[in-house]
Amino acid sequence: MNKGKKIYEGKAKIIYATNDKQLVIQHFKDDATAFNNLKKAKIEGKGVLNNRISEHLLLSLSQCGIKTHLIKRLNMREQLIKKAEIIPVEIIVRNLATGSLTKRLGITEGTILSKPLIEYCYKSDDLGDPLVSIDHIFEFNWADRKEIETINELSLRINDILTGMFKAINIKLVDFKLEFGRAWNKDKDKNEIILADEISPDTCRLWDAKTEKKLDKDRFRKDLGNIIQSYQEVARRLGIMPEETNIKEVNFGKPTSVKFKKK
Ligand code: TMP
Ligand code: ASP
Repeated sequence: MNKGKKIYEGKAKIIYATNDKQLVIQHFKDDATAFNNLKKAKIEGKGVLNNRISEHLLLSLSQCGIKTHLIKRLNMREQLIKKAEIIPVEIIVRNLATGSLTKRLGITEGTILSKPLIEYCYKSDDLGDPLVSIDHIFEFNWADRKEIETINELSLRINDILTGMFKAINIKLVDFKLEFGRAWNKDKDKNEIILADEISPDTCRLWDAKTEKKLDKDRFRKDLGNIIQSYQEVARRLGIMPEETNIKEVNFGKPTSVKFKKK
């Protein structure tokens, strides 16, 4: 598989073309951003851990019948994935109230929700990924009714599977963000909805079940320190710490160059 030109660069990942039109390479960077790019840092080793953790979680989901974009992990920072037309709606699934939900609605931090709550955000860095209603999605043709039905169903199944996986390693899956895309299914001769992007401590809230210690990107958002150690802890509990030799190549140090931009 030949790595071709860069076709997209996001805040935490880069997508490269390959010599196969249906496949691209997803590269995980060490860059971390929060508050819509206002806070930035390089966290050495984060990309390596997210690559490995996301590979593990997506493979586990595909073993449960969820179609994902992942073909295989290529190396420490890269995955070969199916090219998909990303639906510009981020799906947030919440089991406990925290983060923007508590801020927006004044709900008490840590409230256990009676059932998983799904929220939709329009994927736009310029607008700060605003919360939207299902009618916005249809009105502006971001996805159709059938696609949203599929996405909701898949999101709840993913929540069930991941909640169980994390529970088994004493981690509460508090909430997470998913992205879906349309990809060509040559057997069916039509596009289908598949899970895209990544699932990692960057895109989930993961709390230690006993102590409620945060093991995710909130450590960066809230300046709690030990960011990489927490991501490593998640990988260790999942039983997938990167190989000895590779760890030595990566300096899991403190975040460097934390920068704040004025609004
Ligand atoms: P929120 O409480 O800040 O809305 O975040 C909800 C979940 O979505 C949380 O697990 C973090 C994740 N998330 C992302 O993956 N990307 C984002 O840009 C935001 C705002 C949240
Ligand atoms: N990813 C978003 C940003 O870059 C927000 C977040 O994860 O908190 O600002």
